[in-house]
Amino acid sequence: VESLKGEDLLTLAELKTEEVEGLVELGFVLKKLAKEGRYPKLLAGKILGMIFEKHSTRTRISFESGMIQLGGHAMFMNSRDLQIGRGETVKDTAHVLSGYLDAIMIRANKHTMVQELADEAAIPVINGLTDIYHPCQALADLLTIREVKGGLKGRKIAYVGDGNNVAHSLILAAAHTGMEVSAATPEGYEPSPDVMEAATALAGKSGGHVAWTSEPAEAVKGADAIYTDVWTSMGQEEETTQRLEAFKGFMVDDEMAALAKPDYMFLHCLPAHRGEEVSASVIDGPNSHVFRQAENRLHAQKAVLASIL
Ligand code: CP
Ligand code: NVA
Repeated sequence: VESLKGEDLLTLAELKTEEVEGLVELGFVLKKLAKEGRYPKLLAGKILGMIFEKHSTRTRISFESGMIQLGGHAMFMNSRDLQIGRGETVKDTAHVLSGYLDAIMIRANKHTMVQELADEAAIPVINGLTDIYHPCQALADLLTIREVKGGLKGRKIAYVGDGNNVAHSLILAAAHTGMEVSAATPEGYEPSPDVMEAATALAGKSGGHVAWTSEPAEAVKGADAIYTDVWTSMGQEEETTQRLEAFKGFMVDDEMAALAKPDYMFLHCLPAHRGEEVSASVIDGPNSHVFRQAENRLHAQKAVLASIL
């Protein structure tokens, strides 16, 4: 996707719809090639620095593997081990890293910090999850739906659970591509009004639709895909008890899933808590595509890296 050369990937809202669709298609092609054992060395000699302020399995390993598959190199940095962990400024860090690396991927507590890093760095910055967005996840989600359902436009996706980072990026991504998105969250845990507004504007152009409800049954009715994520995200651990109470009735179980289309797909960004946001019968059942979805992080991100670099 040539127009993304040198660009940051921070939210997905800043991308043009053609760019989002282009990344999904490129991810699809790169996956097909990988399955044939073909790994085009599009990023020979390129170095990606990866900064983590929080835990990660999928994001860390898929970015590292992705860079290697494309002929480049990736470097893992725990923010605690960098001088930034003991007070060096984001601005100075951005300028210094710009001299060593070709791009930065960062998982951070605060989106504002990632925005500042991107503003100050001379190299592209990719958001690997913040408190409010997870764009790389959403691109893999689109790729997974496109792969299983054959397309995106007109398909209905129900998001059930917390109106969090994963929900925000999913809603924006689906709105870009003309999907019908119905988000069901308890009151007080709705997706951010800014995201709903941006997504509604995107859906207006793409022929999609975005809605919120506090009734999971309403969201899930007739859905092609049901998506959920943890009720307590990283950094919210002290709210666990209160959240378990607030999300009662929001577990995606067989009874809820029976309201979706018979061939619905179950999606979850992982890690999952069986018996909280999803029953074991659903996530380990025949309609679940969560491991395909996790694998697709790799291919969707290779599309991002190849385009940006
Ligand atoms: N889905 C996701 O981002 O997983 P990790 O936290 O393991 O990176
Ligand atoms: N919402 C979760 C997603 C983890 C990939 C979190 O922020 O912890």
